[in-house]
Amino acid sequence: MALVNLKQLVTDASRRGYAVGSFNVVNMETLQAILQAAEENRSPVILSVAEAHFPFIDLEEFSPIILRAARKATVPVAVHLDHGQSFSAIIKVLRNGFTSVMFDGSTLPLEENIFKTREISRIAHAVNVSVEAELGHVTGGEGDASPGVADPSLFTDPQEARLFVTETGIDALAVAIGSVHGIYRGTPQLDIPRLAKTRKLTGVPLVLHGGSGLSDDDFREAIANGIAKVNVYTDMSQAAMAKIRTVDTLPETLGFPEFMVQVREAIKEAVTEKMRVFGSVGRSN
Ligand code: 13P
Repeated sequence: MALVNLKQLVTDASRRGYAVGSFNVVNMETLQAILQAAEENRSPVILSVAEAHFPFIDLEEFSPIILRAARKATVPVAVHLDHGQSFSAIIKVLRNGFTSVMFDGSTLPLEENIFKTREISRIAHAVNVSVEAELGHVTGGEGDASPGVADPSLFTDPQEARLFVTETGIDALAVAIGSVHGIYRGTPQLDIPRLAKTRKLTGVPLVLHGGSGLSDDDFREAIANGIAKVNVYTDMSQAAMAKIRTVDTLPETLGFPEFMVQVREAIKEAVTEKMRVFGSVGRSN
């Protein structure tokens, strides 16, 4: 049984100084690519389904497939809702057996974010499901690849973060420190002192969204200062699209499923590269 919750994964990552990759599942190819990368590299992993991607996935139909694959895996796997913004999305994934949820109230006023996150924590924890929440706001098009820049006025306030974590009882906190979802416009600048202070004041494992397009040094510094989970989607999507664009150069006799294996391999390489820089390779036990 390799299915675990997020708390188990991020606690180990924090303790041993690496980060677990959280990769978005949008179809069968992404699911297989992520799990193959995890098994081949003996890496724990998080399979993330974003509420923004629900239109591409029939959740009722696909959840049993994701969960079965996670249980069969020989490395620890959490099945997580990414950016759950509606109460119904949270309840749907709980009913479908996910082991972790992110409630994203980052665009709400602080009091309302606390109130709603606390409510989700109480419900999820009652059935041993972990909870991630966001304070401050990571900009950019979540679930797509539109270019973005970070907005320092929306960065996480470490003092507020302490209050937020105490009041909500969450297991992991997503922070806004300079990363963006999607493709970066300009060079990203992570606010590492802010990250370190947030970690010190909250004591919980921290989460970095917008993991595509950051440098290896960015990741190393972020992990050394409290990041235990990194979310990645755009780099996987771009790797798949780059392979798909080569289709005209391939023999006309190549069949569709054989071609999709090549797409899957490209995604797997992108995932593997991240696992190496996050330091999660070989940490499965
Ligand atoms: P990227 O698409 O920038 O990798 O971000 C993914 C993410 O943070 C999903 O929550």
